[in-house]
Amino acid sequence: MPPETPPPSHYVHGTSQAEQARLAQMNRILNDRELPELGLAPGDRVLELGAGTGLCAAALADAIGTEGCLVAIERDPAQLRAAREVLAGRPQVDLRAGDVYEPPLAEGEWGSFDLVHCRFLLEHLPDPGRAVAVAARAARPGGRVVLADDDHELLRTWPEPPGWQALWARYWRAYEGLGNDPLVGRKLVQLLVAAGLQPTRNTYVFFGACSGDPLFGDVVANMVGVVAGAREHLLDEGLDGPRFDRVLEDTLRWRERDDAALWYGVSWAEAQRAPSEPS
Ligand SMILES: C[S@@+](CC[C@H](N)C(=O)[O-])C[C@H]1O[C@@H](n2cnc3c(N)ncnc32)[C@H](O)[C@@H]1O
Repeated sequence: MPPETPPPSHYVHGTSQAEQARLAQMNRILNDRELPELGLAPGDRVLELGAGTGLCAAALADAIGTEGCLVAIERDPAQLRAAREVLAGRPQVDLRAGDVYEPPLAEGEWGSFDLVHCRFLLEHLPDPGRAVAVAARAARPGGRVVLADDDHELLRTWPEPPGWQALWARYWRAYEGLGNDPLVGRKLVQLLVAAGLQPTRNTYVFFGACSGDPLFGDVVANMVGVVAGAREHLLDEGLDGPRFDRVLEDTLRWRERDDAALWYGVSWAEAQRAPSEPS
């Protein structure tokens, strides 16, 4: 998706108010579904790489309580501002400006985290393996690294809204052209192993719904919002504007059908850093 201003690297989603609202809405739905998978306990030490607007970090912080500690790393100044607001009043959170390739961790913090969590980060990185190697180094011996990211090919809608699947495919392929990896979700276990970690679990965090589910409207609006954010870029690539708008309008109207269903899953994989050798 084209950013509003050229980014320092290829973070495609931009930081407009509409984009922040979309992320907030998606976070609410997703956090409720991901938190049980993470199995956090009060007092845990957590590192979040690519904290974004801080909504996921807030949920992690609430799960570990004030006796825990969450270090959250984010590079983008606008995201940092939003995250600072969201995370205010949570003394267990230490939000730091920095790059995930070289996170600002003190010497003694490397190898100290019970959990290192990266969600929707790797798809934006030119070298995801480098970030996972950082995560592996930051986890304590016996600690965990969790990667959660998109595989855009997983989206299914039925009965198909006219033109939607073709537009979705155009969207995520354009995303690839900007140096992002829209299919990184399928590579998570491979990335964990390449970083020297032992994979322990692989699943999807379900992000779908159907007519009759109170979340259905929001889930569809989120998917439409993701594609709408790429409008300018897709039109630059030659897509017809009125046709683009019509497909999105039709897809929003499709939510009113009583037999409409959407399936999506966020790829989610967990690995453990080897426990230290007994001395
Ligand atoms: C889609 S957001 C995900 C936020 C959060 N993890 C979540 O799940 O809601 C990805 C974030 O990663 C940040 N990011 C991308 N590349 C980064 C880098 N090299 N170093 C630090 N942050 C980065 C972006 O600025 C953005 O805020």
